[in-house]
Amino acid sequence: MKTAIVTGGGGFIGSHLVEALLERGFRTVVIDDLSTGSAANLPSEAVLREADVAEPDVSRIFAAERPELVFHLAAQIDLRKSLLDPAADARVNVIGSLRVIAGACDSGAKKFIFSSSGGAAYHDPSVVPTPETYPAGPVSPYGAAKMAVELYLNGARHARGLRSVALRYANVYGPRQGLKGEAGVIGLFTAKALRGEPATVFGDGEQVRDFVYVDDVVRANLSAAFSEQEGIFNIGTGVGTSVNRIAELIRRQAGGPASLYGPPAVGEERRSVLDASAAARVLGWKYAVSVEEGVKRTVDWFRARG
Ligand SMILES: NC(=O)c1ccc[n+]([C@@H]2O[C@H](COP(=O)([O-])OP(=O)(O)OC[C@H]3O[C@@H](n4cnc5c(N)ncnc54)[C@H](O)[C@@H]3O)[C@@H](O)[C@H]2O)c1
Repeated sequence: MKTAIVTGGGGFIGSHLVEALLERGFRTVVIDDLSTGSAANLPSEAVLREADVAEPDVSRIFAAERPELVFHLAAQIDLRKSLLDPAADARVNVIGSLRVIAGACDSGAKKFIFSSSGGAAYHDPSVVPTPETYPAGPVSPYGAAKMAVELYLNGARHARGLRSVALRYANVYGPRQGLKGEAGVIGLFTAKALRGEPATVFGDGEQVRDFVYVDDVVRANLSAAFSEQEGIFNIGTGVGTSVNRIAELIRRQAGGPASLYGPPAVGEERRSVLDASAAARVLGWKYAVSVEEGVKRTVDWFRARG
């Protein structure tokens, strides 16, 4: 039986990926310190190794498991925390990633799939939807770390022959998503609507994002892992949806009062939408779930969870 390692597998996106890998017959080993993730997100067939990717000991897990595939999702994902303490962010997002890359190289992994970020890569782009060829210019330590890891992966390809794909996600949403930060706007609004509370929109609500459903992101990881191709690919829908529209779609499914409006978030971008045509051309991946359908599934999940 082939082994896949999923770092951050106890988290939102990781736990969906773990389910998909188990369905495909992989022995699936999760490395997670459970700082934001949870063992309860994992099916019983998954093997959980509770560990911090930034600690040197993580190499032992790779040596013991000798994975065929490595999916690296473990990260400090809070943008604000990264601004407050860039060194703590880099400890997990840079040093931790380097330890995972080294583990993959040393144990002879065939492919490494990295969860990068499109929203953090392109700052205030003049081209929207934004392709991968647009110059990366991260303005947060979180974004700088993601771009650094992409560069380190390029280095590992040359120095160690590690085959890799970096997937720059748009705003991922769906069941089990955390309820913190901008990436969680759909989860946050849904949780509030189901409690009969109004959503709080920062600014005029006309800021536009590219919301991609978690099942589509899992498929992108699998396409990248099983393809011969390497490189950096945006993973989004190319469709911009305003925060006001999201609030309206959620209200339609979950009820709840009209949104409240607060002051705009400092430094927030107006438009962040990814051009994922390279992923379609090279990896054969395209999103399948519209934002209308994805919001419905997400609301159903939050409602069933109670
Ligand atoms: N959710 C999004 O919209 C989005 C967008 C772009 C990129 N990403 C990336 O996708 C990946 C997964 O994000 P998510 O939304 O599922 O977040 P998440 O917080 O649910 O998952 C991250 C997981 O990593 C684990 N983790 C954190 N620090 C760790 C450490 N030092 N050692 C081991 N495990 C650690 C957490 O416990 C958690 O299970 C991250 O790399 C994130 O940067 C997410």
